[in-house]
Amino acid sequence: MGYAEFSRFYDSAMKDYSWCSSFIISLFNKYCIKKNALLELGCGTGRILELLGDEFNELHGLDISQEMLAYAEKRVPGAFLYHMDMTSFTLDSSFDAILTVFDTINHILDYSGWLETFKHVKRHLNPDGVFFFDINTPARLQRLSILPPFLTPLENDSQVLMEVEEVLADDFNFNVQIFEALGDNLYKRHEISIHEHTVDPFLILKDLKKLFTTVTVYNEECEPAVSKEEIKMSLNGRMFFLCTA
Ligand SMILES: C[S@@+](CC[C@H](N)C(=O)[O-])C[C@H]1O[C@@H](n2cnc3c(N)ncnc32)[C@H](O)[C@@H]1O
Repeated sequence: MGYAEFSRFYDSAMKDYSWCSSFIISLFNKYCIKKNALLELGCGTGRILELLGDEFNELHGLDISQEMLAYAEKRVPGAFLYHMDMTSFTLDSSFDAILTVFDTINHILDYSGWLETFKHVKRHLNPDGVFFFDINTPARLQRLSILPPFLTPLENDSQVLMEVEEVLADDFNFNVQIFEALGDNLYKRHEISIHEHTVDPFLILKDLKKLFTTVTVYNEECEPAVSKEEIKMSLNGRMFFLCTA
């Protein structure tokens, strides 16, 4: 999938995540959840677990990439980490909160895998627990795919060039080129492709409502989008779902 090679550069290339922890903490407080155990699906290098570390007694994270987990082990040494697939995970614990963020769910390339993930989440939630995730909507990925490639400077003069390519309707590639600075203006080029699948948010909402007691949609501004019109107006941006067990 590309994360084996990307893991080394991931944290410096993906800086735009500070919104995430304060929004998530505000929702956990709003829903008055118990803060014993948290599970993150697709925890990657552990940066979200680290940010939420003071909020919970126990941190758990799972990821399909052993290389990403190796960074998480160093970053959140007290966390329980599992090398597992989020579409089929089984753990002995249950959780007050389960989350999967930064378009991790979009990495599952067929919708049946999304539905399997939702079912496994439901099985692992405590009765008062919540499930929170975000998605790249179809409109957001289409919008990104017509933009020219964008360049982000990394540490030590390295650079990352990223472009989003529409492959099929609802299937996109993030084509990432990393120019790793070797000194003396010499670079090693790494080419990585990350695939994402996207799904109509109204279909997701309908299926979530079959499994969870309540489902609330939040828009990119972290405001609730309650009516059909409000959801339609939010389709261009990242979208968040908060489900109660
Ligand atoms: C965009 S990164 C997000 C990492 C982390 N949540 C963050 O915000 O920094 C997506 C992560 O999902 C993991 N992933 C992709 N498919 C997965 C699957 N089926 N099961 C578990 N993890 C998966 C990848 O290995 C990667 O670490």
